[in-house]
Amino acid sequence: MGPPGAGKGTQGELIAERFGIPRLSTGDMLREARKGGTHLGREARRYMDAGELVPDDVILGIVDEALGAPQAGRGFLFDGFPRTIAQADGLAALLGERDEGLDAVLALEVPDDELIARLSGRRVCERCGHVTHTRVVGEAAECPVCGGQLSQRSDDREETVRRRLGVYREQTAPLLEYYAEGETGLTAVDGTGDIELITGRLFRALDEVGTGTSA
Ligand code: AP5
Repeated sequence: MGPPGAGKGTQGELIAERFGIPRLSTGDMLREARKGGTHLGREARRYMDAGELVPDDVILGIVDEALGAPQAGRGFLFDGFPRTIAQADGLAALLGERDEGLDAVLALEVPDDELIARLSGRRVCERCGHVTHTRVVGEAAECPVCGGQLSQRSDDREETVRRRLGVYREQTAPLLEYYAEGETGLTAVDGTGDIELITGRLFRALDEVGTGTSA
């Protein structure tokens, strides 16, 4: 968990790789649907471009489907889900039906001015999906990984970013307390500093809650 730009995608990739499990990012699934021009993609577009949340029943539907995919058999990492209390309750029901549960809930903490700086400079490769930043690639238009075209996400415009931060505070932040008071608990992790430093903090936090990253 964490506000827009906290590094959920960046760190989620590294955690998923370490465990050999899929990263289920509802944001990425919605962007794929948009690219494919599906009904879901068309429906999601107007919420995403306005910085609002896509309705809970739509999100729970795509998560239910993803949990049924064979790659999810060894476990999974959620990125950007759940985002409302209704989604968290829905997730608990979906996991309960499968006799599964959550091992850990991690929340990245980053101050607002850094979030805005990260989002305004974020660049995404249109070909391989690599996420980078103008702090790393400058104004280069080519992906450092595959040479594809780098572009800015349509919801990374300043006005939409401000709305996304507001939506996070109103609708998602209450979930921090929900999990902190629940059975799984919540581990807050400092999301500032170098990417590798934060990855180390996350792995240590996962070891402490007994998920066995060192295995
Ligand atoms: P989603 O795609 O989930 O966006 P988000 O939560 O707003 O998060 P971001 O992807 O913007 O940021 P991130 O935390 O992954 O940061 P990243 O690693 O990229 O959702 C988009 C939209 O889809 C939502 O607004 C909503 O409409 C809809 N949606 C999705 N899920 C939903 C749900 N469950 N319910 C309802 N609606 C939903 O990093 C950001 C930048 O910072 C990058 O450029 C990166 O290179 C850089 N960076 C990362 N770490 C560091 C560091 N340590 N130092 C410096 N730069 C860094």
